[in-house]
This record gives sequence, C-alpha cells and structure tokens, in this order.
Amino acid sequence: MSKITAVGETTGTLPDGRHQPDEAERPLRAAIVGTGFIGEVHARAVRRVGARLVGVAASTPERGRAAARRLGAEDAFDEAEVLATSPDVDVVHICTPNHLHADLAAMALAAGKHVVCEKPLAVDGATARRLTAAADAAGRVATVPFVYRFYPLVREARARVAAGAIGPVRLLHGNYLQDWLATEDDDNWRVDAELAGESRAFADIGSHWCDLVEFVCGDRLAAVCAEAVTAVPERVHAAGTEPHAFAAPVTAGASRRTVTTEDITVVLFRTVGGVAGSVVISQVSPGRKNRLQFEVAGSEATLFFDQEQPESLWVGRRTSSEIIVRDGAHLAPAAAPYAVLPPGHPQGYQDCFDAFVGDTYRAIRAGGAGAVDGLPTFADGARAADITDAVMRSAKGRTWEEVPQP
Ligand SMILES: NC(=O)c1ccc[n+]([C@@H]2O[C@H](COP(=O)([O-])OP(=O)(O)OC[C@H]3O[C@@H](n4cnc5c(N)ncnc54)[C@H](O)[C@@H]3O)[C@@H](O)[C@H]2O)c1
Repeated sequence: MSKITAVGETTGTLPDGRHQPDEAERPLRAAIVGTGFIGEVHARAVRRVGARLVGVAASTPERGRAAARRLGAEDAFDEAEVLATSPDVDVVHICTPNHLHADLAAMALAAGKHVVCEKPLAVDGATARRLTAAADAAGRVATVPFVYRFYPLVREARARVAAGAIGPVRLLHGNYLQDWLATEDDDNWRVDAELAGESRAFADIGSHWCDLVEFVCGDRLAAVCAEAVTAVPERVHAAGTEPHAFAAPVTAGASRRTVTTEDITVVLFRTVGGVAGSVVISQVSPGRKNRLQFEVAGSEATLFFDQEQPESLWVGRRTSSEIIVRDGAHLAPAAAPYAVLPPGHPQGYQDCFDAFVGDTYRAIRAGGAGAVDGLPTFADGARAADITDAVMRSAKGRTWEEVPQP
C-alpha cells in the first residue's frame, strides 16, 4: 500500500511540481555593514557563491539606500545595529572602519548570527580574544578575511612546506608595500587612531603578511623587534569617515592634522621554531601598490611568492630553479580546488574573496569552521591583533617583545 504524504512534507515537492528546498539547501541570507571598497568586494563574493544579499547598511540611511541600489541588495537597513541583529539575516559581514568592528561582531554573535568581520578584528588583542571566546561559546562560524591564503599557489607553497619538500625552514622574509598614502595630500580614516587603532600600516597590511607566513610555514612569530616611522608627520584632513578613492589626493579647502599612526614598520622576528626573519611594511613607497611578497628558504629549496603576480610560485634550488604556474591538474590536492579557472586565464584578488566567502559558508553548512581546512577564524584575527600589540610595544620601548602564544 502506498503511503499518503502531504505535498511537500517529505517529498520535497511543491504543489506545482517544483522541488522545494529544505533548510540545508536554502541560500544563506547575508547582510553587509559598510559598503565602501571592501564591502563591495564582499557583496560580489556573496552573490558569486550563491547566497542572497538581503541587506546593507552604511554610515547614514541615505548612503545605505544608495549602496543597496548600487550593489543590488534586497534591502537597506537604516542602522548597522538593526542589521546585525535582524531575524532575517543568517550571516553578518562587518566592513566598516576598524573602531566599529568589535561592538558589531559581539552584537551579531549575541543575536545568534554567523559573522565575517574584517581585519583588524579589534583594535587591541584583549578585545579580539574576548570576541573569539564569544564566537566559540555561541557555536557560530566567525571568520576574518585573511584572503591571501586563498591564492592557489599560496596553498601549494603551504603543502610543500608541510610535506618537507623544501627541507627545514631556515629563513623567512618579505614585505608589504603600498604608495596610496605617500604624500601629505593623501588622507583616509585609517590615518586617525580614533577610527583605525594605534597602529596603521602594520595593523592594516602587516597583519596580512604575518598571517600568510604563519599559515604557509605552520610556525608562529615568537618575538619581535620593531621600528615604526611616521614619514609624513602632517596630512591634509578630510572630515568624516566616508572614503575618498584610494590614491585620489584630497585637496580643496581641507585642514591639516598631525599624524600619530605609523606609515612604515620594519620588524625583525624569530619564530617559535627558532627561525629568524624580517618584514618591511610601508604605505608610503612610491610606485608600490600591493606588493606583498614572502620568501621561505629551507635547506633544500626556497619558495618565493608575489601577490601582484599570484599565478606563479618560484622554487629555487642550488642546481636549478623553476617557476610553477597555476594549473589545477598539477597542484597539491589541498591547492587544486582553489584553481577554479583553466590555467592561463588569470585568477586574482576577487577570486580569493569568493573562495574565502564560499569556504565560510561551507563551514556554516557543515556546522563549524573546523570542517574546512585553512579557514581564517576569529582566533586568527586575535592572533594578528596580538602580534600588532607586540610590534607597537617594541617600537615604543625599543625592545624585543614576546608575542603571546595561544
Ligand atoms: N581583507 C582585506 O583584504 C581588506 C581590504 C581592504 C579593507 N579591509 C578592511 O575593511 C574595512 C573597511 O575598509 P574599506 O577600505 O572598505 O573602507 P572604506 O572607507 O572604503 O569603507 C568604509 C565603509 O564603512 C561605512 N561606515 C562608516 N561608518 C559607519 C557606521 N557607523 N555604520 C555603518 N557603516 C559605516 C562607510 O559608509 C563606508 O561605506 C577596514 O576595517 C579594513 O581594514 C580589509
């Protein structure tokens, strides 16, 4: 005898015959607070991975409505706090200036949301660690977009180091150099310690470098000795927290202000594993745009990666050297899934964001961040904040400073 079943009850079929998605298949409902440069990148990624962009919020209701139209969001929220706690939202993306991150993330977690919070997770290590504990206690997926991890050849480098292919690591070094704040006519909310935190260049981009190198090497910075330089001591001051286009100098009628945050950081470090290293961070290096490079020298081979040429990885050896190009068919199993286009059709920064958001949402579906390898979580955000704190202590005290270990 056939069992009589209410339409849609267990058959997953709607009255008109269409498949009815169950809870696990329903597209996630994402909402974004902060709709400037990176909010737009998040919005593209949300859509590309098949989620719904149900809402956005900006610094004013008018800007929020304009952003909703521009980004194709379903709705605009007048207030960030309402978005962060809305019952119609599954995952909150926080893309505002830094000083707003911690309160919004805490609010969203308390409301049971999954959270993607931009770096720096908080403007000090203690707050970032409290947020990590709150995310753990809430059992929510909480991630931070250290997206350079998502270049396929970064994954390849990581796989090679982990497999022992370059031998024990002996030396780490590199840089992250930009020029968009090179002149005294360049301004941005990041210059203001009230909005961005005590550290600017290191917290903003040095944090990416450290996360990437710890990720690739599986080792951690243990102690740092830093020099921080404010190369442009006075800058034009454009009022408000709205962005001026990167690299577009602010001119007409603006006042000037004294700068307290650093333009350059030079850091010597040693790792828990006893490896020596150094990194140069700058936002005032003319001609350099997003020159994030790292080099890992092992006893058998050296790996060199350049974020501006992310489709290749240099592998140096004593006898001969080679350039590995991105080709999913020939990458390590952990790297191949991130090669989403045929080799020769370049992938780039937005693809990293798509992969990061895709992996975050996969973790949400799977019930936890641990289900997805290499996902940068709030713990990694707290780690970056702890390193930044140690760098700033070192620069101020002219001392070597220990980095707390988890
Ligand atoms: N992961 C990365 O690679 C990456 C890259 C760039 C920026 N970021 C981070 O993203 C964040 C934003 O940076 P950006 O470059 O997009 O800045 P931006 O100035 O371009 O955009 C900031 C946005 O925040 C909004 N905002 C300001 N105050 C607000 C408030 N009270 N409520 C709601 N919205 C408000 C503004 O309207 C604007 O849309 C920063 O924390 C930055 O460190 C990360």
